[in-house]
Amino acid sequence: MTTRQIYDLAVKLAIKNDLRGVPAVQKYLARTKKKYQNLPAKDKAIFDQEKLTNPYSDSRILADHKKKQIKKIMAGIDMEGPELLLAKQLGDIDLVITHHPQGEALVDLSDVMSLQAQVLADYGVPINIAESVIKPRLSEVSRTLSPLNYDRWLDMAKMLGLDFICTHTTADNLSAAFIVKLLKAEAKGLDTVGDVLELLNAIPEYTVAAKKKNGLMIFSGEADDSCGKIVVTEFTGGTNGSKDMYEKMAQYGIGTIIGMHMSEEHRTEAKKYHINVIIASHAASDSLGMNLFLDEIEKQGIAVVPMSGLIRVKRFKK
Ligand SMILES: [Fe+2]
Repeated sequence: MTTRQIYDLAVKLAIKNDLRGVPAVQKYLARTKKKYQNLPAKDKAIFDQEKLTNPYSDSRILADHKKKQIKKIMAGIDMEGPELLLAKQLGDIDLVITHHPQGEALVDLSDVMSLQAQVLADYGVPINIAESVIKPRLSEVSRTLSPLNYDRWLDMAKMLGLDFICTHTTADNLSAAFIVKLLKAEAKGLDTVGDVLELLNAIPEYTVAAKKKNGLMIFSGEADDSCGKIVVTEFTGGTNGSKDMYEKMAQYGIGTIIGMHMSEEHRTEAKKYHINVIIASHAASDSLGMNLFLDEIEKQGIAVVPMSGLIRVKRFKK
């Protein structure tokens, strides 16, 4: 496989596992295409063409030296300067994959957050409400990221001759879908927050994280509390959504949310509206999505070296 083929596979798997469903993603891409076609020539010239086929703005090819065959990959949660130097020093790494975005994928992270509104709509919050609550947060994230030196590490990858890609929402979609599927399969046995916690704790990545004292945590509610309607939000779609969403979630019948991380400000709001919150270890949750993607690459005979906090668990037999 080439770097382009590996990246294309990441996008394909993400679309297939997108919580919005494939038809909704196709509609989103069709809308993007229409917007592009209606742009004036000067705006068309700077338009990111990847958006026409990849709906995830935070997952991009950052450096591609057009190598004929990728044989060995180094993959991790945050692959930056030290990891790139290590990859070069090992001598046989063709491609470095970072989960968290860099370069234009980091600057444009907010664009993927619209996914969260549609996911909430699918859980019962009217789309007009979900969208209008999340919109100010999108521009807030965009402003926060704008001053960053976002090309720092990809300049280094280019100079070192390493191919470099980031797979953020493309991987997070896989972990979110994995957990949604598990919750559906075990729905009958899930009465309390503690039941949900127990179910998630059996996922190997979370078991490893728990041993490292970074297991799942209840941020709001108690283990004995009834979980009510469980939703997997703040798991995919860029970063934390709007803190104003919890009021709407409560109004539309959501009882427990499962997320990867949550600020104290968000937690206070969730508690205020009696929403139970389970926060699944960030590193382990990121690892779960990356593992489901990396399994598909390893099946093609490409070696994977885990790095930078990636808890590598394989779900296939060679
Ligand atoms: Fe993450």
